[in-house]
Amino acid sequence: MSRQEDGRAGDGRVQDKVVFITGAARGQGRAHALRLAEEGADIIGVDLCGDIATNGYALATREDLDETVRQVEKLGRRMVARQADVREPGEVREAADAGAAELGRLDAVVAQAGICPLGNQDPAAFLDAVAVDFNGVVHAVQAALPHLPDGGSVIATGSVAGLLPGATDNPANGFGGLGYSWAKRAVASFIHDLAVTLAPRSIRANAVHPTNTNTDMLHSDPMYRVFRPDLASPTREDALLAFPAMNAMPVGFVEPEDVASLVLFLVSDESRFMTGMQLRVDAGSYVKNRPQPPAF
Ligand SMILES: NC(=O)c1ccc[n+]([C@@H]2O[C@H](COP(=O)([O-])OP(=O)(O)OC[C@H]3O[C@@H](n4cnc5c(N)ncnc54)[C@H](O)[C@@H]3O)[C@@H](O)[C@H]2O)c1
Repeated sequence: MSRQEDGRAGDGRVQDKVVFITGAARGQGRAHALRLAEEGADIIGVDLCGDIATNGYALATREDLDETVRQVEKLGRRMVARQADVREPGEVREAADAGAAELGRLDAVVAQAGICPLGNQDPAAFLDAVAVDFNGVVHAVQAALPHLPDGGSVIATGSVAGLLPGATDNPANGFGGLGYSWAKRAVASFIHDLAVTLAPRSIRANAVHPTNTNTDMLHSDPMYRVFRPDLASPTREDALLAFPAMNAMPVGFVEPEDVASLVLFLVSDESRFMTGMQLRVDAGSYVKNRPQPPAF
């Protein structure tokens, strides 16, 4: 049972802050919205609510985004939601501006909309992954910055795959996998540089790097094929057997709520002097798989 379902009230850790979340319709974006709302925040949320041709699984729908709004409101908080494409800076800016005008402020941004076009052999898949997973992050930051007060918070979602050479950028994963890794490495680097740039205003910038996370991105045919290259048409059950190999702890994936706990901490003033961090929620995946120096 999730913390939202059991009806426990939060402790006001982000009371009356307003947080802009990209990819808010489902998965981790929805979990962030709910965890933050539970702790007193109002939400501005955008999602594409449509599909991208090179991405081999369906993205969220308008109904998904409306459901996030419904669940935030059930927690007694407000959410201004818009259909917007993070590849389009103007759409992202309009959404942030309209949300900040309606909710009165904007304290933090969680740039986390993403696609993972694994296995696609068309170079366009590289560009689509970069356009969503990297450009989309920069566009969200660009849209939020004019509103952020001193002491605000920027959070971007990378991936442990971006930190591990040979994970999603294994040639078997095609141009889509290469683009995903490239974009996630670029997010990590951008956050480093952004942290230095924003530090004089005490605005912090941190990256969150999840391992396999229990969302529709993980539970997709392209991902099942990556984890079970030995099978022609792997099922969810086949993939569940292989997922734990990614992690040091004996789990196949973490839950979106596990990532949301870290996002909540990074939005809250509890993390006010933490910046430029690359924080993993990865069940030991990185330490298990990281490149090791040769043992001479
Ligand atoms: N699920 C995993 O195993 C995993 C692991 C590591 C990192 N991540 C990262 O976590 C983030 C969240 O992914 P998730 O796991 O919740 O998957 P998800 O597919 O459930 O959610 C991604 C959301 O982003 C939205 N989106 C996609 N393209 C968009 C665009 N152009 N404009 C606006 N919205 C768009 C989708 O509609 C969807 O609602 C992504 O950045 C992803 O790369 C996921």
